[in-house]
Amino acid sequence: MLTHIILNPDVEDNFVHLNSHKTFDGYYQEYGDSLAQQYETGQALIMDAPPIKGNDELLLDIEFPYNHRPTKKLKFRDIMSNDDATIRKFIKNGTAIKAFRNEASRVSNLMCKGLCAMFPKYNVLKSSIAWRFSVSHTEDLHLDVHSVNKDVHILKAYWNADSFPRIWQTGTHIENIIKKLDIDPRRFDHSEHLTAYLNKTYFGLSQGRVPSEVPHHTAIIAPGTMWIAHGELVPHTVMFGRRMVSVALHVEPKTMINPKLSFYRLAHTPPKSSLAQ
Ligand SMILES: [Fe+2]
Repeated sequence: MLTHIILNPDVEDNFVHLNSHKTFDGYYQEYGDSLAQQYETGQALIMDAPPIKGNDELLLDIEFPYNHRPTKKLKFRDIMSNDDATIRKFIKNGTAIKAFRNEASRVSNLMCKGLCAMFPKYNVLKSSIAWRFSVSHTEDLHLDVHSVNKDVHILKAYWNADSFPRIWQTGTHIENIIKKLDIDPRRFDHSEHLTAYLNKTYFGLSQGRVPSEVPHHTAIIAPGTMWIAHGELVPHTVMFGRRMVSVALHVEPKTMINPKLSFYRLAHTPPKSSLAQ
């Protein structure tokens, strides 16, 4: 099956389906820096058949822990650690642990190298990788808030490593929300304060508001699909998902195609020179 987007006519279409290529370099050869340009303006890049082939026999055999909250993510460093305590919550068999470590290392490296090939101008300071092997469902629609160094941009990419689709919802671009609510971004010292404010007031995370009250698209993301999305600009939520690998590249903003569009500057940028231009 292919990823299918149920578009809401009240929300702009912020999905771009990329033609498939046998290598990550192939995507850059076809699209060049428009990949970065589109990503930076909040388009979600969908790769229906990315050059990643997982070991399904191994990955689909990994157990889901029932009490998933404390073990929601397996960080790459925990997977590779000699201490088996964390990994044993998912995998009991010692031979499978070794095979999983090899597979995690192979896929993680492939995704990181692949993203660097698609965004060759970005100076990547470091990467962090998490393998999610627990059921995710019905979060609240939100914008990501990163509590890291303000001069680092975090690019996130995901790979659906499950045999079931992952279901996401996405809303309208943050710029449209700012306009709708008539907010002056300059009143916030940091972009994180702006997103935290919107999460609380517009998405109503603290008021038990259901995500369906905010207009949204629904993306049914097929198994094996990879997607790259700017979670600080475009509100999103997972409605259902199982096995997934996520990669976060920490990018030096000045190496981006248009650092002025980078989210970390939004709160300091006068509205007239903001993302709409
Ligand atoms: Fe998020």
